[in-house]
Amino acid sequence: MKNMAEKYTSKYVFPKTANLVLPLLVLLVIGAGTYVPVVVGLGASPENTDVGYQPVQPVPYSHALHVGQLGLDCTYCHTTVDKAAFAAIPPTQTCMNCHTNVRTESPKLAPVRESWQSGKPIEWVKVHDLPDYSYFNHSAHVNKGVSCVSCHGRVDHMGEEGVYQAKNLSMGWCLDCHRNPEQALRPKDQVTNLGWTPDQLKLAEPGTESFQILQEMNLAPNEEITQSKLGEFLKKKYGIRDHHFMTSCSTCHR
Ligand code: HEC
Ligand code: HEC
Ligand code: HEC
Ligand code: HEC
Ligand code: HEC
Repeated sequence: MKNMAEKYTSKYVFPKTANLVLPLLVLLVIGAGTYVPVVVGLGASPENTDVGYQPVQPVPYSHALHVGQLGLDCTYCHTTVDKAAFAAIPPTQTCMNCHTNVRTESPKLAPVRESWQSGKPIEWVKVHDLPDYSYFNHSAHVNKGVSCVSCHGRVDHMGEEGVYQAKNLSMGWCLDCHRNPEQALRPKDQVTNLGWTPDQLKLAEPGTESFQILQEMNLAPNEEITQSKLGEFLKKKYGIRDHHFMTSCSTCHR
């Protein structure tokens, strides 16, 4: 991640040397055979130091306006989120698709026009940043029906002050979901629809994946669609792997 991340002004959660020390620590911990209590302790420790982190960005870009009001899909800009580990930040070209014609004089867009003229990318400041010794992959989540909202909150409500970190991204937080993934699964076609709730499945349009799932679930008339019912169904349909895989150290530390 850090290669791409270095294009931003990176914030380091740990000093750089920690990137060497920690994998060793992990090996030692496993070797000692005492990992269970250690990890329970780690998982339980409140290390939510980054919740609310909201760096000042070079342009007052608003998700609330572009997503919430204009209705752009996340993948219009974050084009790799369902294909790769890293969720691409859009190049200036993407902004200029519209801003060559829209608000061409706006002072708020001056850095975008400068970047367009000079060819130098806008230096967005990275908000979410895991330490290098942990492995994360966007497509592995998005293609199994885990929504952006589970990990980033209501980005579609975040305004000109920029994106802030809504969840603590600690190991304990990752494991909370990995132990009970059914609480977070939804149809893949609703992953970028942040306000979606399970009862909306009944409104699915024929021909969509949601509609197919609704039919396969074979509910009784008037039967309520709860998250646990839907989640258990999708866990099988999407072939979510077992508890052992989801909680193994090597899944996230490789
Ligand atoms: C028109 C382009 C555009 C669209 C559409 C868009 N984003 Fe973004 N997004 C950006 C830009 C530019 C940034 C960098 C500035 C910032 O962090 O505020 C960003 C940053 C982010 C970040 C913070 C990344 C980091 O540095 O950690 C998250 C999370 C995010 N977007 C999620 C979403 C989600 C979820 C959606 C759909 C609901 C979405 N975005 C739709 C352009 C877009
Ligand atoms: C699909 C078209 C579209 C794309 C793509 C787009 N914008 Fe916009 N943007 C708009 C519209 C429409 C407005 C609102 C104009 C208005 O209020 O009349 C706007 C407004 C803005 C404003 C506020 C301008 C002001 O004067 O208040 C900023 C800043 C901005 N966009 C930044 C960006 C950035 C940065 C990107 C690329 C990451 C981007 N936009 C991509 C359509 C777009
Ligand atoms: C399971 C949790 C999870 C889900 C689901 C998720 N993200 Fe992320 N996202 C993260 C984490 C963790 C990071 C920080 C990754 C790192 O530093 O290695 C991140 C980082 C980002 C970034 C910054 C670039 C990067 O990859 O580091 C963007 C942009 C982003 N996410 C957008 C999205 C969008 C859009 C969606 C939904 C389509 C989404 N994310 C779904 C957890 C998630
Ligand atoms: C809201 C639920 C949720 C959260 C939060 C979450 N995950 Fe996951 N994760 C999943 C699901 C579901 C899968 C898919 C498992 C499968 O494919 O069998 C998964 C799979 C993975 C995989 C396996 C990728 C592969 O296919 O090899 C890794 C690695 C991973 N997650 C890391 C993380 C990390 C690191 C965090 C915390 C920063 C995190 N996850 C947070 C639900 C979640
Ligand atoms: C679901 C993903 C996931 C699994 C499974 C996982 N880890 Fe982690 N681990 C993380 C993440 C993410 C961090 C970084 C947390 C942070 O930045 O605060 C981390 C941090 C750590 C740290 C650094 C200390 C700390 O509290 O930040 C150690 C040591 C560690 N993990 C050991 C383990 C061991 C041993 C196992 C197996 C029993 C394990 N991890 C399983 C995701 C995971």
